[in-house]
Amino acid sequence: MPNGPVTLVILGASGDLTRRLLLPGLGTLLRTRPDLDVKLVGAAFEALDEAEWRKRVSEALADGGCRVERAERMASETRYAQLDVTDGAAMKAFLADIDEAGRPIVLYFALPPAISQKACEVLSTLELPVGLRVAIEKPFGSSLESARAFNQLLTSVVPEERIFRVDHYLGKATVVNLLGIRFGNRIFEPVWNANNIERVEIIADEGLALEGRAGYYDKAGALKDMIQSHLLLVMAIFAMEEPANIDAVELRDLMMHTLRATKLWSGEGEVPSRRARYAAGTIDGREVPDYTAEPGVDPARQTETLAQLTVEICNARWAGVPFRLRSGKALGDGFRGIVVKFKPVAHLPGGFHNEAPPNVMVIGISPESIALSITTNAEGDRWDLEQTTLSTELSESPIRPYGEILDGILSGDPLLSVRGDVAEECWRILTPVFEAWSSGEVPLDEYTAGSYGPTSWN
Ligand code: BG6
Repeated sequence: MPNGPVTLVILGASGDLTRRLLLPGLGTLLRTRPDLDVKLVGAAFEALDEAEWRKRVSEALADGGCRVERAERMASETRYAQLDVTDGAAMKAFLADIDEAGRPIVLYFALPPAISQKACEVLSTLELPVGLRVAIEKPFGSSLESARAFNQLLTSVVPEERIFRVDHYLGKATVVNLLGIRFGNRIFEPVWNANNIERVEIIADEGLALEGRAGYYDKAGALKDMIQSHLLLVMAIFAMEEPANIDAVELRDLMMHTLRATKLWSGEGEVPSRRARYAAGTIDGREVPDYTAEPGVDPARQTETLAQLTVEICNARWAGVPFRLRSGKALGDGFRGIVVKFKPVAHLPGGFHNEAPPNVMVIGISPESIALSITTNAEGDRWDLEQTTLSTELSESPIRPYGEILDGILSGDPLLSVRGDVAEECWRILTPVFEAWSSGEVPLDEYTAGSYGPTSWN
């Protein structure tokens, strides 16, 4: 999409997210889109020497593969301001200073949620530059009520179409791959339903442990950190009805339509939710301590490092199909992907020696891949049936997920941003889980770091 000129202001510019993800993501975008007319401004509470900021910008952009001259040019033009975003007068002066006619400003909040919220309260009292856009990092709220209140506040600052709620999973190639595989082939869409699919699992297991993030993670846990936004959004894309066009209105309407029909599993045969926490173990030869022994963790919070949820999408397409969402840290194989298990054939002709194994499709997430297991005749005895897997790696996008998300924000296209009602709906789905966990109905199980999770879950 063509871009007009734009000023990208990163609030929280001295932080880890900016250095590790945002700027390298921007670097990948600049490499593929050299025409992008974007000015970068960094601001944070921390006093930072402008030369140091420029150095960080040029290094982080280059880390994303941006051409050296481009990275250096952007670094030489960028500015840094020390700013308390919760101070109305300071914010007003800052915005007046960077406002240029014909160049809309994006305020990207790379800040902890509570501070972003305070800053938005401040913005709601100010006269704002024309066309201002606001980008907000996840987690968006911490419950249905807080997400609702935050949405009300945000829409009093700028209209919904200029609010970009960031979820980098929507920037992963997986999302576009899912749309391409399902709607670009004749053979998948007709079987994408409860008549043919037995169950779906969406898994994001990580080998990484806490990695020094107790300050944030110990208050969030796996359910809020990964399932609330990332995995529910991937599920919504996987399970939605067919769009006529892929645009911000249609895609997000269809995601919302699917999420509204989603509720925690209440039938037989599935456990609606499970939680667990890792104990000391070894991952790739590296000793990992007990989660509770990690600096900054408060064991009394009972934070889960592995969460599993089973939901049902109560509509004609999916009724009765369990969708299992699972994510955790310090897990053995670090598998991330979607596993689609098909029903057995309606009737296998007599004469074969064995049952036909059901088809399974695995769509890998980062790295992107697809594998389809089909039933074939065995080599030795033709009347024996066995499974053969057709698989391929899918090409990686040259733009990292944060680059894709920034592309949408800089061009003003909210296609890959989370709409306000979608964010609220994800919290609504999880509300009964929070209630069951806080009432002690669901035990906090334990697993050894480096294992596949609690053995009792198998
Ligand atoms: C982030 C979570 O949103 O996603 C992290 O806060 C998690 O805890 C990360 O590690 C996973 O992202 P990816 O792209 O590595 O799957």
